[in-house]
Amino acid sequence: MTILAIDTSCDETAAAITKETKVMSNVIWSQASLHAKFGGIVPSLAQRHHEEKIDWVISRAIKKARTGFNKINAIAVTVGPGLAIALEVGIRKAKEISSKHDLPIIPVNHVEAHLFSPLAISSSLQQDAKPSTLKFPVYGLVVSGGNTLFVLARKFGEYEILAKTSDDALGEALDKGARMLGLGYPGGAVLERFARQGNPLAYKLPIPLSGQEKRMVFSYSGLKTALYRLISKQKEENLDKKIICDLAASYQYTAFQHIYRVIDFYLSSLPEPDASKLFIGGGVAANLEFRKTIRGLCKKHKIKAFFPYSKKLYTDNAAMVGVCAFLREKHLGNSYVNQGLIDRVPNLQLP
Ligand code: KG4
Repeated sequence: MTILAIDTSCDETAAAITKETKVMSNVIWSQASLHAKFGGIVPSLAQRHHEEKIDWVISRAIKKARTGFNKINAIAVTVGPGLAIALEVGIRKAKEISSKHDLPIIPVNHVEAHLFSPLAISSSLQQDAKPSTLKFPVYGLVVSGGNTLFVLARKFGEYEILAKTSDDALGEALDKGARMLGLGYPGGAVLERFARQGNPLAYKLPIPLSGQEKRMVFSYSGLKTALYRLISKQKEENLDKKIICDLAASYQYTAFQHIYRVIDFYLSSLPEPDASKLFIGGGVAANLEFRKTIRGLCKKHKIKAFFPYSKKLYTDNAAMVGVCAFLREKHLGNSYVNQGLIDRVPNLQLP
């Protein structure tokens, strides 16, 4: 099953060709630098640039995969969650191609796509998807700019939310921390670079909801305020590069410890006996320190951690959308939806 996948949920215009779980091409045109000067995403700007680039990313994805519309079996498109006017661009394009080439459409949930992104495999591998990795139940952790979710997938399409954020998502908290430190936008990756040169124990920031892990909630508002206070205090003296690196490292360390503690509490007290795998997806999982933290946690609980094979699969991309559409059709069937019924769902939740 060969799929043309499209994602325009936020500030990346993305198209990919996937064959079952194999990524034949994964083209991303990032708008990040265009939004940087505004310190965040401007929806109308995102929409305009999606419109300008959508045809280019699709034709490039097809060319890179050395395929053509006559070999494509279906179109997968992200319908939510995301920015309404940005989602619309991808959906409109999917419908246009569907009519022109008589191809069915599979609508995809962007968070579900992040969740199963570790199952994507490289086209350079001669292997097929390993069915063993698809044995349910599995745990899932999505850490992106818009979501922080720890779930138990009992089967494909059936998720129990074990913990979610009550305010900012982890990526959003890192972005805001980076902005406070004057490191620019988007901040997660640049914060990581500064943190690498700093001491994570230089400043003692409060680990959110410490001692209240059993509430199974993530929260970053208190940590952000603590960083803001520290920065204001330091500014009265001097905010040199060493201090910025130490603050970045301490903030990042504390943010990751919070995730560690909540999941550690769950796995120590209420684990699902049959779940032995954790799938991790989303932009923050690109962070080396984060991956180390989660690997340590999984080792402690004898759970196998699965991350996407390539950096391009962490932040927003369309290959994960194609893989998710394939899995949906394989596990549930009936995933094709009549064009007229497909619409954007900006606040789409996991089923
Ligand atoms: O998955 P993604 O593109 O967004 C959503 O689907 O919402 O993730 C974007 C988020 C941003 O908050 C960005 O700062 C963060 O992922 N991010 C990182 C890194 N690279 C991207 N956070 C920490 N370390 C990184 N290396």
